[in-house]
Amino acid sequence: MPQKVRKAVIPAAGLGTRFLPVTSAVPKPLLPVIDKPLIFYAVAEAAAAGIHEIAMVLSPGLEAVAGYFSPNGPMEDALEERGDTERLAMLHEIHGLAEVTVLEQTEAKGLGDAVLMARAFVGDETFAVILPDDLIWSNTPAITQLAQVAEEHGGSVVAAKRVPRETIPNLGIIDADALGDGVHRVQGLIEKPSLEKAPSDLAIIGRYVLTPGVFNRIEQGAAGALGEIQLTDAIAAAIGQESLHAKEFDGHHIDAGTPAGLFAANIYEARRRDDMAGVIAELGLIPD
Ligand code: UTP
Repeated sequence: MPQKVRKAVIPAAGLGTRFLPVTSAVPKPLLPVIDKPLIFYAVAEAAAAGIHEIAMVLSPGLEAVAGYFSPNGPMEDALEERGDTERLAMLHEIHGLAEVTVLEQTEAKGLGDAVLMARAFVGDETFAVILPDDLIWSNTPAITQLAQVAEEHGGSVVAAKRVPRETIPNLGIIDADALGDGVHRVQGLIEKPSLEKAPSDLAIIGRYVLTPGVFNRIEQGAAGALGEIQLTDAIAAAIGQESLHAKEFDGHHIDAGTPAGLFAANIYEARRRDDMAGVIAELGLIPD
């Protein structure tokens, strides 16, 4: 029987070079969408999916990222003194979202290597991986949608989305047979293919439900595209041995891993928030 997903790994140790110069001083996971950092949305999605044990993989010296989820004494004292119970409650809610374990990836050797850091934390159970750059707004958390497919079919599940042709060479692309309801049986995965080699326009998005067998496959795998240890290759290595599915999730996805993407995420989120309605109207960004 497939297990319930209880643990999530959030890899957040990348260099964030596409955000230079800001990332020379501010870690990418702390860049905000309005007033909450990217890392918050990842943890909130896990919590909404009922996953409260979270390992955050960070590069050395970036403890501030995890600090966002720990009590901040002086700030809370100041709010208490002012009687600002609303903001205090907001902070307490953030601290109560999850139990966060910090793991270090000493060198940015790729996403596969970052996930491997969580091997002892995960142990022998099926687990979730949530990339904080990939923001998904949905009624049912995307990771829950994947976990449901894993429960039905067993094995591992990756999130998928149809993408414009010109973006294919930058993404992980899926070769699969559609089973209905947005579920696909995966036959192959290829990281950053040329347009001629791409088997489809179905791209992997940063949500995964993985069996613990992936750790051995990451270890055994050689460095792939761009010399990085690729998670995609390790997941693909399971094909033929255990079941692997892709789920076209219901929800709106934005890749906030570039300045343009983060800007789009800010606009999208602002259009959903009542307290931003004034500025949205002023700028002519009328919500649909
Ligand atoms: P990206 O491919 O966006 O790389 O990582 P990056 O280093 O963060 O950003 P750029 O390309 O330099 O601008 C995808 C996800 O994998 C994590 C990142 O933190 C991000 O969540 N990652 C990547 C790691 O944790 N470690 C790595 O070595 C590489």
